[in-house]
Amino acid sequence: MVDVVLGAFYGDEGKGKIIDYLSKNCDYAVRFSGGNNAGHSIEVDGKKFAFHLIPSGILNKNVKAILGNGVVIDPKVLIDEINNLKENGYKADNLYISDKAHLILPYHIELDGMLEDIRKERKIGTTKRGIGPCYSDKFERSGIRMEDFISDNFKDYLKTNVENKNIIFKAYGYKELDFNEIYKEYKEYAKILKPYICDTTTMLHKAIKNNENILCEGAQATLLDIDFGTYPYVTSSNPTIGGVSTGTGIGAKYINEVYGVIKAYSSRVGEGPYVTELKDEIGDKIRELGHEYGTTTKRPRRCGWLDLVALNYAIMLNGITDLAMNHLDTIGKLDKIKLCVAYENNGKREEYFNTNLEFLNSSKPIYEEFEGNFGDISKCKSYDELPINAKKYIDRIEQLTNTKIKFIGTGPGREDIIIR
Ligand code: GDP
Ligand code: IMO
Ligand code: MG
Repeated sequence: MVDVVLGAFYGDEGKGKIIDYLSKNCDYAVRFSGGNNAGHSIEVDGKKFAFHLIPSGILNKNVKAILGNGVVIDPKVLIDEINNLKENGYKADNLYISDKAHLILPYHIELDGMLEDIRKERKIGTTKRGIGPCYSDKFERSGIRMEDFISDNFKDYLKTNVENKNIIFKAYGYKELDFNEIYKEYKEYAKILKPYICDTTTMLHKAIKNNENILCEGAQATLLDIDFGTYPYVTSSNPTIGGVSTGTGIGAKYINEVYGVIKAYSSRVGEGPYVTELKDEIGDKIRELGHEYGTTTKRPRRCGWLDLVALNYAIMLNGITDLAMNHLDTIGKLDKIKLCVAYENNGKREEYFNTNLEFLNSSKPIYEEFEGNFGDISKCKSYDELPINAKKYIDRIEQLTNTKIKFIGTGPGREDIIIR
């Protein structure tokens, strides 16, 4: 009844497209972690939608879209997204926001930039959307929840927080923020969002009782997880399987399928280790062929080969039941394809991933090579129709991960997907 879609690498695996497909048969699509650091794109009839907060499932008109308690919300971005949906003929009356989700405020965004400046060469390369500082406040217990945002307490809570943050801005020589200006703007946002805010946990439990189908939509990805990713080069939440329960209130026993999304190669945005990164012309070629520029920040994505050491870690950690692999069309445009099957570390073969930075920085990929040149696969609607070289690549990944690749992406469009 409850299925989950998760990123298995460093994000941008094409989760949006897979969620759009899977939510066709769903009653609810739920975001459980992260905020508008995410960018999930879906192409419908040549039109590109990019969702940062609203669950991608909303494009299926019968789906109720939920922003769970684990999400952090920039109200301005959310209102823009709601308006964009309406302009494109979609209603937003099937959107529900958890009363326990936390609010991103201008001081979080300022702090995100300031902290990156202070880190200097050890910067993380964040999206500067205020995500880390908002989660810090949540855990420090000075955060403002959606239920506070729409209550009479908002003014007091905000005033205290702005005063406290201004002490920090002043100490570091940064411009202080004006409480009155922020309050004036944000109380208008609160009015607009109030009708959407409710107890989404009870709503989901009622849905489970009624045997309705729920799809939990992961943002970010396994290797960006605050606990299990390449710390400190990670995001500030748990995009892995545990985040589903803490970010929605759905107990683990209800979770059924866990779909791990990958690309036929890999990419990363921001700083941090990346064993199979290609810093050469092949990496540049993949970036151009796959249009690998950030959906949120437009930054060029670092590109490399698919890494099965990392993938097997993601499968193990999340209990991934099936894989979805996008961009088979992109990788098939190369003459030769490499697949990382193990690392060499200190002269030893290593098949287990370890997030220790020294380990990752000193590991060298061990590759198997495959023939590319798949030709045009955009018309292929089944595995059987795929060229032999593509099949060999897919089969080997399944063999080495012991996991079925249930969905294969053959292009960016909604229909460009092979289902097995
Ligand atoms: P997400 O954050 O995981 O949802 O992924 P993004 O939307 O940030 O990045 C994935 C990009 O790949 C988007 O531009 C998609 O339109 C595109 N895409 C997804 N699947 C495929 C595919 O199978 N082939 C091609 N060529 N593009 C794809
Ligand atoms: P989707 O859902 C790719 C990366 C940032 C940075 C690090 C921390 O589209 O896959 P943050 O702003 O979260 O504090 O930045 O995490 N990052 C992502 N990279 N896809 C994403 O989301 C990401 N969300 C955060 O680039 O390295
Ligand atoms: Mg993305």
